[in-house]
Amino acid sequence: MRVVTVGVHIVDVLTRPVEFIPEGQDTVLVDQIRLTAAGAAAGTAVDLVKLGNQVTTMGAIGDDELGDFLVMVMARHGVDVSRLSRRAGEQTAASILPIRPDGGRPSFHVPGANLSVTFGDVDAEALRDADAVHLGGVDVTFGLGDPAFFELLDSVRAAGTIVTMDLLSEMPDLLGMAKAFLPHVDYFLPNESQAKLMTGAPDVETAASQLLAEGPRGVLVTLGAEGSLLVTGGVPAERVPALQVEVNDTTGCGDAYCAGFITGLLHGQDVRTAASWGTAAATRVATGLGSDAGITDLPTTLAILPAQG
Ligand SMILES: Nc1ncnc2c1ncn2[C@@H]1O[C@H](COP(=O)(O)OP(=O)(O)OP(=O)(O)O)[C@@H](O)[C@H]1O
Ligand SMILES: [Mg+2]
Repeated sequence: MRVVTVGVHIVDVLTRPVEFIPEGQDTVLVDQIRLTAAGAAAGTAVDLVKLGNQVTTMGAIGDDELGDFLVMVMARHGVDVSRLSRRAGEQTAASILPIRPDGGRPSFHVPGANLSVTFGDVDAEALRDADAVHLGGVDVTFGLGDPAFFELLDSVRAAGTIVTMDLLSEMPDLLGMAKAFLPHVDYFLPNESQAKLMTGAPDVETAASQLLAEGPRGVLVTLGAEGSLLVTGGVPAERVPALQVEVNDTTGCGDAYCAGFITGLLHGQDVRTAASWGTAAATRVATGLGSDAGITDLPTTLAILPAQG
């Protein structure tokens, strides 16, 4: 199945375990340091390829060595990076993540070239050819909030392409702007704090139903170790439990959830089953360091689901 990811591309530098920042110039030995292609478009693209999809990614990176790394590592995973824009003189987005022993993930982040993405970076033909389009981080790539892009999304949806959307930030102003996309997507997959910040709702159920009222066919709010909440029209909200796992690092669990969910839909599964495929992919990612860790292929990913799904 052909999927296009559009949005945020980030190089993650991760290390674990980190319990404190050393005093002065002290050095602390750690178990592991990794570099990964991450972010709501790039990380999801890598997971989607591992789950068996054919993936093209779109967005903007710099012409620096971080950008070279992103192109190299995504291509090595099998993502088509030929439509990625490179901006002369700009920094590629990057994060440094010192991962706590319990898997917690504080971060230091440079948004870089992601902030410059516009409709001009989107290859409309590739979107028309896709079975699914995933918008990853439109709160950060806010230049995509363009009537011409909304029109393109509406026309590909009318032709049968599934459009999904995830977010990146926890910043109320940026999240507020992302609301404009909701009438133009099929499924919206924010995490709990994003859903609450976007709506001002006191609880996740209210937030999800308010987001659903903005236009999508379904809203899936991820709740970290608590699993996720699925809301679609006409039926009560449903909790999808997380799976018990030894957690190393939860970076990119939301991206993996999206990749598993999209893969499920493209395999003709119903929304609830697709949510369990998302959960399986997210669980695999929680077991390793980095947003692509733990996922190898679709059969081994689905094998961790309990028999009833
Ligand atoms: N500690 C955990 N134990 C088990 N499963 C987890 C844990 N944390 C996350 N998950 C799984 O991952 C899914 C997505 O996680 P989460 O809500 O943390 O996403 P997120 O905040 O969007 O992450 P990111 O933006 O880094 O990709 C959850 O719905 C759950 O299935
Ligand atoms: Mg997320």
